[in-house]
Amino acid sequence: MTVGENHSSTGDLIPSSSLAPIPPIPVEENNDKIVEATKQSRMSLEEIDTAIDVGKLKKENQNEKSSTNTTEFTDPHEPNPKFPFGLINKIGIDWIWQCLAIFFAIGAGLGGPCFYLVFQELVDTVIPAAGELPPTDSELQSAINGIALKMVYIALGLGLAEGLKEAFLTIARHRFQAKLKGSFFEALCNQEMGYFDIKKTGNLLSHLSEDVAIVEEAWTSNLAKTFQFMSQFVVGVILSFRASWFQSLMMMCIIPFFSLVAVSGVFVAWSSKLTSNSAARALSTATEVVTGMKTVRSMSGEEKEAKRFNKSLSKVVLASLFKSLATGSAMFFGHLIIWCGVAFSFFIGGILITDGIGGHKITIGTMFQTFGVSLFAVIGLAQTAAEGAQLLKSLASANQLLKVVEREPQITPRGGTRIPPEELKGRIVFENVSFAYPSRPDVVVLENFSLTIEPGQSVALVGESGSGKSTITNLLEKFYLPLTGRITVDGYNLYDIDPKWWRRTIGIVTQEPVLFGMSIEDNIKYASLHGLITDPNISHEEVEESAKKANAHDFIMDLRDKYETLVGERGVGLSGGQKQRVAIARVCLTDPTILLLDEATSALDNESESLVQDALNKLMKGRTTVSIAHRLSTIVDSDKIVVMSKGKIVEMGNHQELLQLGGYYRVLAEKQTMGRSGSSAESLDMIGEVDDE
Ligand SMILES: Nc1ncnc2c1ncn2[C@@H]1O[C@H](COP(=O)(O)OP(=O)(O)OP(=O)(O)O)[C@@H](O)[C@H]1O
Ligand SMILES: [Mg+2]
Repeated sequence: MTVGENHSSTGDLIPSSSLAPIPPIPVEENNDKIVEATKQSRMSLEEIDTAIDVGKLKKENQNEKSSTNTTEFTDPHEPNPKFPFGLINKIGIDWIWQCLAIFFAIGAGLGGPCFYLVFQELVDTVIPAAGELPPTDSELQSAINGIALKMVYIALGLGLAEGLKEAFLTIARHRFQAKLKGSFFEALCNQEMGYFDIKKTGNLLSHLSEDVAIVEEAWTSNLAKTFQFMSQFVVGVILSFRASWFQSLMMMCIIPFFSLVAVSGVFVAWSSKLTSNSAARALSTATEVVTGMKTVRSMSGEEKEAKRFNKSLSKVVLASLFKSLATGSAMFFGHLIIWCGVAFSFFIGGILITDGIGGHKITIGTMFQTFGVSLFAVIGLAQTAAEGAQLLKSLASANQLLKVVEREPQITPRGGTRIPPEELKGRIVFENVSFAYPSRPDVVVLENFSLTIEPGQSVALVGESGSGKSTITNLLEKFYLPLTGRITVDGYNLYDIDPKWWRRTIGIVTQEPVLFGMSIEDNIKYASLHGLITDPNISHEEVEESAKKANAHDFIMDLRDKYETLVGERGVGLSGGQKQRVAIARVCLTDPTILLLDEATSALDNESESLVQDALNKLMKGRTTVSIAHRLSTIVDSDKIVVMSKGKIVEMGNHQELLQLGGYYRVLAEKQTMGRSGSSAESLDMIGEVDDE
C-alpha cells in the first residue's frame, strides 16, 4: 500500500554502496506553509498556543559564562520576576534563626565602641587633668582593676554575641540553602523536555551552585552583618558626638574620601567576575575533554586540546592581573584614608586638649575615646555599604533562580486523565500531527503525520536518518506536544493524559540506555510502578524474574556482588549488550501496555544483538510495539512497516507488500541483502534469515 505519492521518485536513488547512508527521498518542500498554518490553526488552544509561541524563539548568545560555545535561545515562557525579594518570600528564610542571628549581630556591633568608653576611663585615671592631683598607687591599682573587670565583661558579651551570631547564622544559612536548592531543582525537574533543548545545561547547573550560594550568603550572612555594622555606626556616632562633637566632626570629614575605595571596589568586582568567568571557561574546556576523552584520543586531539586549555588559562592569568591591580589600589586607598584620618583626629585632639577651640577643651581620655568610637563609626558605615551592596548584587542571582522556580512548565509533569484499566488496550492514533522542536521552530520535523496502531500490533518505523522516527517516540512519550493535530490513545487525547501515569504505562528501550550509579537491583527497580528507587512493594524475586526474561540474570549472577553490584556513573563497567539487557529488565518490571524500541540493538555486535533481540521478542509479546531499526532483519516480522522521509510517511505495509511495491523499502532491502550476502535481490524475502546468520 502506498501512502505518499513520492516513492516512484526513488528509482534513481539506489545507493552505489551498501555501506552508504540510507538514501533520502525528495518530498514536497512546504515547511513555511506548515509553520504558518501551525501558527494560525490552533490559536484557540492556550497550551498549543504556547507551544507555537516557541516558534518566536530567537537565537542569541545569552550568556558568556557558557560551558560550551553552543547557542542558547530566549525562552518565551520565561517569567519576568519584577520583585526578586519574592524569592525570599517564596522559598522562605528561617526567620526565627535569622532574627536571632541579627539580634546577636547588633549586640556584636556594640562591642567595639564600648571598649573605647572604658579606655577613656583608663586614660583619664592614669593621666589626671591639669591641676588635678595624681592618684596614689593603691588608688590607681584598684581603679585599673575595676576597669579591667569591665573590659572582661565587655569581652564576654562581645564573644558571646559573635559566637551566637555565627551559630544561628550557620543554622539559618544551611536551612535556607537546602530549601533554595530543593525548590530550584524541583522546578527544574518539572520543566518540559523542550526547555532543556533551549537552555544550556552548564548555565542551569551554575544557577544551582553559584546563584544559590550568592543568594544564600546575602540573605543570611550579609543581612546580619549589615545590621551589625549599622549598629556599630549608630552607636559610634552617638558616643563620639557625646564625647567631643568637634573632634567627631573632623573625623567624619574622611568619609567622602572613601568614594575612592568604592571606585576601586567597582573595578575589583568587575575583574573578579572576569577572572571567575575565564576560570569557568577553562574548567568547562577540561570537563569537555575529560568526558569526551575517547573521542579526543581517537582523533589524536590531545595536543590541540592542551593548547585550547592553555589558551583559556592565559585568559585567567590576564584577568587576574586586572584583579590584582584593582585589589591593590583598593587596599592602598583604604589604608591611606583610615590612617590619615587617625593622624588628623589626633592633630585636632591635641589642639583641643591644650588650647581648646572656641572654648571647647577635652581630656586626653576623651580624645582617645572620640578617636576610637568615631573610627568604629566610619568603619561601620563603610562596611554597611559593602554588605548592602552584596545584598543588592544578590538580587540579580535571585532573579535568575526565580526565572526557573516561577516558570510554569508547558507540559504539566503530573495530573490529568488516567485511562481506566478496562479501557486501556493500546490503540494509538496520530491524526494529522505536525511538529517542530522548540529550539528549531522553523524546521518542520513531522508534517501532517497520520498513523493508526492497533492494540497488540507491532509497527516498525524505517527511513533515512533525520526523517523523524525518534521524534515520533518523543511525542508518544509526551516529552513534546504536537503543534497541530493530535495523538489519541484508546480514544483519549494524549494531551489530557496524566504524563506521570502515562510514562509508567509505556516502556522505552533506546540505543544507549542510561544506568545510574547504584546497584543493578535498584537500577532495575528504577522505573518501577511507583517510580521510587527503593520501592518496598517490589520483591527481589520480581526483579530476578524480570532479569531472566531480559536474558540478564546469568551475567548478573557472574558478577561479584550479583544484584548488589554497583554500576558506576552511566553504567561504566558493563558492556553495551549487558547494559541494554538491564534496561530491558527495567521495562519488563513495569509491565507496560505499549512498548517503544528506538534502535535498541543498533549499537550491539551480532552475538549481543541476538541475546538482546531474543529478550525484546519476549517483551513484545501481547503489547502494542513501535520499533525503530536500521537493520531490517529486526523488523521484517512487524505487522506494519512505516517508511518515512522528511517527516512524512512515504510507504506503508508489511514486509512482503513493501517488497512487491518496489519503492524505497525495496531499495533499502536490496542494499542490506547485498551488503550482507552479496546475493541478488531475489533473496529479499529471506532477509530475516540472511541477517540472522
Ligand atoms: N531535541 C531536538 N532539538 C532540535 N531538533 C531536533 C531535536 N531532536 C531531533 N531534531 C531534529 O529533528 C529531525 C528528526 O530527528 P529524529 O531524531 O526524529 O530523526 P531519526 O529519524 O530518529 O534519525 P536517526 O535515524 O538518525 O535516529 C532531525 O532533523 C533532527 O536534527
Ligand atoms: Mg532516531
